[in-house]
Amino acid sequence: MIAAMTRRRPWHVGHSRASISRPRRISSAQDAFGRWRFSGGLEIENGDLAAIPPAAAGAGPDAGRVGNRLRRPVTSRRLWPGEATCYAHRIMTERQIGRVAVLGAGTMGHGIAQGAATAGMTVIIRDVNEEVLGAAKGKIEKSLAKLASKGKIEESVRDSALAAISTSTDLEEAVKDADLVVEAIPEVMTLKIETFTALDRLAPAHALLATNTSSLSVTEIAGVVKDPGRVVGMHFFNPVPIMKLLEVVRGLRTSDESVAAARAFGERLGKTPIVVRDWPGFASSRLGVALGAEAIRMLQEGVASPEDIDTAMELGYRHPMGPLRLTDLVGLDVRLSILDHLHRELGEQFRPPTLLRQMVRAGKLGRKSGEGFYKYD
Ligand SMILES: NC(=O)c1ccc[n+]([C@@H]2O[C@H](COP(=O)([O-])OP(=O)(O)OC[C@H]3O[C@@H](n4cnc5c(N)ncnc54)[C@H](O)[C@@H]3O)[C@@H](O)[C@H]2O)c1
Repeated sequence: MIAAMTRRRPWHVGHSRASISRPRRISSAQDAFGRWRFSGGLEIENGDLAAIPPAAAGAGPDAGRVGNRLRRPVTSRRLWPGEATCYAHRIMTERQIGRVAVLGAGTMGHGIAQGAATAGMTVIIRDVNEEVLGAAKGKIEKSLAKLASKGKIEESVRDSALAAISTSTDLEEAVKDADLVVEAIPEVMTLKIETFTALDRLAPAHALLATNTSSLSVTEIAGVVKDPGRVVGMHFFNPVPIMKLLEVVRGLRTSDESVAAARAFGERLGKTPIVVRDWPGFASSRLGVALGAEAIRMLQEGVASPEDIDTAMELGYRHPMGPLRLTDLVGLDVRLSILDHLHRELGEQFRPPTLLRQMVRAGKLGRKSGEGFYKYD
């Protein structure tokens, strides 16, 4: 790509600024330089330069020279703010995501892995627990078989998707060749920080790094990565193969190109993306847990039975699933973590109901543990 651009306009190897039309990316990068200290900006630019893989220089006669020149540190040649960011992220965005690493094989991880494999990508799922990985493969197999038997996917897609998924407990092995890493580990900031710190070291520099967090700060998670521009929130919904929404969360330093890449990935999985600002609980979780917590408080106060509270919303407001049934599906522990976070960040209206905390302490986590507000086989 760079070789092709070079033939058209070899400005990036030393031509004057005056003859150059401003690429779209530059204005936002210049804004960023305005907001951050200049040295910070250079550091970001240099991270972007390191992200340019040798192959990105293309196959033309100037390819090696151009690639090497672009990979040279910003401080060693004349560049205007934003130039490197423009190149590195374009390469990442225009590049097809072919290999995906999914971290965490729980409720969300196995669904995201299934979606990516069904869309034709090679997927590796990593979990710390070997048994969970085995169970995740079993669930994916069952789900794909069901979709094929209903005629929602071709049998050949079912087979190729299954063949495209492998598993590992080794983080380095899982992410070393990834174009995209989607983290779906528990909703605990210290775990996310630990994981992204390792990803910064182990994942290829061109890889887009996504977190499936329901509520935590994408900006804070991105803070441990040298190039925070490549970190984005990709909030999928449960069950992933069925739910159409993808909430793309733009951290304070997430690049436009990363947002575009996240949207494009969602669309390849058949999702409808929305883009939201990084704010506690984003758009969906904040509203979802507010309703769920109120339903639990009503149960606590003896207003009605779980069935009647759910029926009120299902028939009275045409919700496809009542708030207590939905809390069972999501996981009571997951919802408690979200509420604890929103309580800290946004205030009293998000204080978790005592009943919810007690049920989590008792191991009643919803569907995944066999019991929550309802019992499951
Ligand atoms: N459950 C939902 O409905 C839902 C919906 C949207 C987003 N989310 C978010 O997705 C994330 C995962 O939620 P979940 O419901 O799938 O959780 P889960 O508890 O079902 O699964 C988490 C998995 O991560 C594994 N794990 C723990 N530490 C790990 C590590 N360091 N590396 C790799 N794997 C590790 C655990 O063994 C477990 O299998 C959370 O951030 C949650 O907020 C959940």
